[in-house]
Amino acid sequence: ALWLWGLHHYKKSLIATSLIVAVSLFVVVVNYSEKPYFLLQPVFGQTFSSHWMFSKQPYKAFKPHLGYVSIPKQEPLKLHCELCSIVSSSGQMLGQAAGPQIDRSPCIWRMNNAPSRGFEHDVGQRTTLRVVSHTSVPLLLQKPQYFFGQGNDTIYVVWGPLRNMRKDGKGIVYNMLRQAAENYPHARIYVTTEDRMNYCDMVFKKETGKDRIQSGSYLSTGWFTLILAMDMCKEIHIYGMINDTYCKTEGYRKVPYHYYEAGSRDECAEYLLHESAPYGGHRFITEKSVFAKWAKTHAIKFFNPPWQLS
Ligand SMILES: *[C@@H]1O[C@H](CO)[C@@H](O)[C@H](O)[C@H]1NC(C)=O
Ligand SMILES: *[C@@H]1O[C@H](CO)[C@@H](O)[C@H](O)[C@H]1NC(C)=O
Repeated sequence: ALWLWGLHHYKKSLIATSLIVAVSLFVVVVNYSEKPYFLLQPVFGQTFSSHWMFSKQPYKAFKPHLGYVSIPKQEPLKLHCELCSIVSSSGQMLGQAAGPQIDRSPCIWRMNNAPSRGFEHDVGQRTTLRVVSHTSVPLLLQKPQYFFGQGNDTIYVVWGPLRNMRKDGKGIVYNMLRQAAENYPHARIYVTTEDRMNYCDMVFKKETGKDRIQSGSYLSTGWFTLILAMDMCKEIHIYGMINDTYCKTEGYRKVPYHYYEAGSRDECAEYLLHESAPYGGHRFITEKSVFAKWAKTHAIKFFNPPWQLS
């Protein structure tokens, strides 16, 4: 009977050991999964909360990001930066002489086709990365040598809906990018995957309670930029972005919507128009209030105008 008990005990500890090994393996798989949206599935019954979303996502140097893949090789984006300065395209950039300070930053991010040439004193010279809307791709392709030519190692990250970005030959913007990658083989062009696009929509819903599509709005390039920056940058400095109450502030500074489009509609007028558009608008003001919330759990600072974050 003692012999039998011994065998039984041995079996029990074997089962226990296997269980521990299996659980550890699962933990390893979860931790090393390179898909950020993997985190959205409940892990060990933990439910999703917006607070948990980015802050618990470990910041890892040079971790390949499967949400962004290169054209034409489909390789994930590998990027890491201690400090990213994000230069807004807003007219707020004008006359602040932030250029030298921006240029001291190890990584400089810009959006769409916002130029540095001719505005160096206010926006800086270098461009490490550009987040580009599908609608701005034709604008870049008007100056392909400037944007994609040799000697330019700027990384381009393009976002857009599937209908324009599909890879089966029917995605009109994807086709343009594939052509550009063929003409400029050194150009570093990445596209946002469909999964990542859905993730960005889902973050909007979690943060605002509104369904992006049902509420008839489009996310802004700023939204995609900040979500990417939170995964890639240890610290983020944002220049020229106004906060959610700016346009209601007495005597606010009236500036053009884009610094490179003098004489265009006033920024606040444009924001209010978008915020109330029944469809097809960007919810810039709503997005800014979400950014303020993220700045509480992330190393994000706002300059020109500064944000007072408690
Ligand atoms: C590369 O192009 C960007 C425009 O995205 C420009 O700001 C930058 O100065 C260019 N860099 C070089 C080295 O030509
Ligand atoms: C928002 O911007 C306005 C105008 O610059 C400023 O007065 C206000 O303090 C800012 N609010 C926060 C929370 O930063």
